[in-house]
Amino acid sequence: MTLIIAMDGPSGSGKSSAAKGVARALGYRYLDTGAMYRAITWWMLEQGVDVEDAAAVAARAGEVRIQVSTDPDAPGIAVGDLDVSGPIRSRAVTAAVSAVSRVPEVRQVLVALQRDIMADGSIVAEGRDIGTVVAPEAPVKVFLTASEEARALRRAKEIADPAVSVEATLADQARRDKLDSTRTASPLTKADDAVEIDSTELGLDEVIDTVVRLVKERVSTG
Ligand code: DC
Repeated sequence: MTLIIAMDGPSGSGKSSAAKGVARALGYRYLDTGAMYRAITWWMLEQGVDVEDAAAVAARAGEVRIQVSTDPDAPGIAVGDLDVSGPIRSRAVTAAVSAVSRVPEVRQVLVALQRDIMADGSIVAEGRDIGTVVAPEAPVKVFLTASEEARALRRAKEIADPAVSVEATLADQARRDKLDSTRTASPLTKADDAVEIDSTELGLDEVIDTVVRLVKERVSTG
């Protein structure tokens, strides 16, 4: 039986680490859909496309060739033959990704690719719209949150650049959250049947255990 575990939530909620941990614990594959939006954004910037011009982004969206590794121990992403796992985390990509991901044509291309990948076997998929749009049939949906401060602190640690303050990370995060949750196409929202987990006071292992327990409950009774 192929099972999809949907894990959605805002940036810095701890989704990536938790989703990888859940995938490892269950022996499932892992899909970071945010990395796919980052990869297409990286490509648009490389091509010199004005990312604020939605029509220009839409016109090129079908050209990009993205390949994703779904091994939770070796996640990676390539555009064409080029591994872009590092470059997609740059500040330039982070600043541009919300503008690119609000374009419906971009979402169509990536959602189709995500569904193809998911069809190959059980997987933990993380993003913003997995439970609502990409896989509404997923038997387990988690909406992971944390306080704004906790999320900015985690992001700042991840960035690990002394030139980037927690305050700057907080401001950038608030801007991105606003864009991601107010856009017309598939905004970040909690699915009605998603279980909300607030990770502000929880350790990573506690979040992973909670999700794994949920999967075991649902799967044995479903
Ligand atoms: O998870 P992340 O911060 O790497 O995601 C980068 C951006 O991609 C985020 O600002 C919103 C967008 N995104 C999206 O629109 N839909 C998804 N399923 C995943 C990410």
